[in-house]
Amino acid sequence: MSLSRLSITSFRNILTADLNAGSGLNLIYGKNGSGKTSILEAIFFLGMGRSFRSHLSQRVINTDADNLVLFAQLEEDDEQTKIGLRRHRNGDIEVKINGEKVKKLSVLAETIPIQVITPESFSLLFEGPKARRQFIDWGAFHSDPQFYQAWVNTRRILKQRNQLLRNQASYSQIQFWDKELVRYAEQVTKIRNHYVDSLNALLKGIIKEFLPLVDINVSFTRGWDSKTEFSQLLENQYPRDLSTGHTVSGPHKADLRLRVGNLPAQDALSRGQLKLLVCALRIAQGKLLKQQLNKNSIYLVDDLPSELDAQHRQLLLKQLTETGAQIFVTAIEPSAIVDSLTCPPDRMFHVEHGQVTFIE
Ligand SMILES: Nc1ncnc2c1ncn2[C@@H]1O[C@H](COP(=O)(O)OP(=O)(O)O)[C@@H](O)[C@H]1O
Ligand SMILES: [Mg+2]
Repeated sequence: MSLSRLSITSFRNILTADLNAGSGLNLIYGKNGSGKTSILEAIFFLGMGRSFRSHLSQRVINTDADNLVLFAQLEEDDEQTKIGLRRHRNGDIEVKINGEKVKKLSVLAETIPIQVITPESFSLLFEGPKARRQFIDWGAFHSDPQFYQAWVNTRRILKQRNQLLRNQASYSQIQFWDKELVRYAEQVTKIRNHYVDSLNALLKGIIKEFLPLVDINVSFTRGWDSKTEFSQLLENQYPRDLSTGHTVSGPHKADLRLRVGNLPAQDALSRGQLKLLVCALRIAQGKLLKQQLNKNSIYLVDDLPSELDAQHRQLLLKQLTETGAQIFVTAIEPSAIVDSLTCPPDRMFHVEHGQVTFIE
């Protein structure tokens, strides 16, 4: 899977841009504020229907425009897919895949598996469990077709259960919902657990290359203690749930534990090392998807050179290119990338005041 053409209209400071991307490494360079991150953000927006920078999607629409338009052509083996997206300021979004209207945005994510590594996204991974859960769920979603519906159902029932708790419902009223909740929660947990196991197998080798001297441990925690059955837990914690007005533990509290020895990774590693750990996690995810479904991810790496020394830039670029996936990297100076590569980038683009130019 690779993106051969990308056209952008009224996205951030980019009024119009047309990129014919290469299937390997695409280098986007330019000064601060030129629009580099915005290009990656536009690709992400096409894949997810939202931004990785702002939860307010209207902020990505150019200040002088009413709507933004994105178009991409994807290539997979000999098959072409055309994706068009229009987002209005009032929140309306229209998506077409090969000319047909799409209702569910999850279809987009299935069509373009995107891996994004930005300074913000990697900080997030060490701040709270939400981003780490999203990381696991990205993989669970792509690797098991049952996951999405099971997770949607789990969340729906949890919402209903919490509503009942706020209304001081009796345990027998809640028990009716719990039966269904347990069934979906167990399904979700099983898929997540299996996913992290498979990921770990690949991750070890990559971490060894990036951080050979550090003993990093990555494990899955399901969101409640490991000894109690979920149905039993729901019964046990009912009085507490009732007093707090929500379900205290469960699959909505699942996490990916990243530890160095006895310490959380963020307390034991430098920023550069944390960045490498995140890159290792994302690369392992992409490799696993390739192994499991023969599907290539698209990598978006914003400001790749920052916080990394020359040796680690080289290692990271080597691992990324070895995945065989299409990669978009940004940098201020092109030499910071080119000098760390063994062969020249597939394509280079220069960005200046929102204008994108292909460099021969
Ligand atoms: N909605 C918007 N409309 C117009 N310009 C915007 C909008 N949002 C952000 N910008 C501007 O777009 C420019 C490009 O930002 P960015 O892509 O982050 O640059 P870079 O990554 O190259 O440093 C910034 O100068 C920013 O102020
Ligand atoms: Mg930027």
